[in-house]
Amino acid sequence: EKAWVDLIPRDALEKAWVTRVDLGGRVLAVYDTPSGLFASAALCNHGGADLCDGYFDGHVIECPLHQGAFDVRDGRPVGAPAVRRMLTYEVRERGGMVQVRI
Ligand code: FES
Repeated sequence: EKAWVDLIPRDALEKAWVTRVDLGGRVLAVYDTPSGLFASAALCNHGGADLCDGYFDGHVIECPLHQGAFDVRDGRPVGAPAVRRMLTYEVRERGGMVQVRI
């Protein structure tokens, strides 16, 4: 069963960028976007690179290894060689804390 778990203080997030958060062995990428916060698995599902080292613009994260790209709002691939939807998580903010549903 899923539960909301504290992730990181909102103030600790990089503004309009991606922030890596280690959650007990699970590494997440949290994105601050013009339409709110989103989160995904940090590792690219194409070749395992760390998306948090990639380039982030608006709603799109570009992988640092082969430049595959994903829309962080729903995880869909938007640039080759990424072809599979990435794993995303529900995110919310409560009392200044970013929470993820896991
Ligand atoms: Fe990310 Fe290849 S590892 S596009």
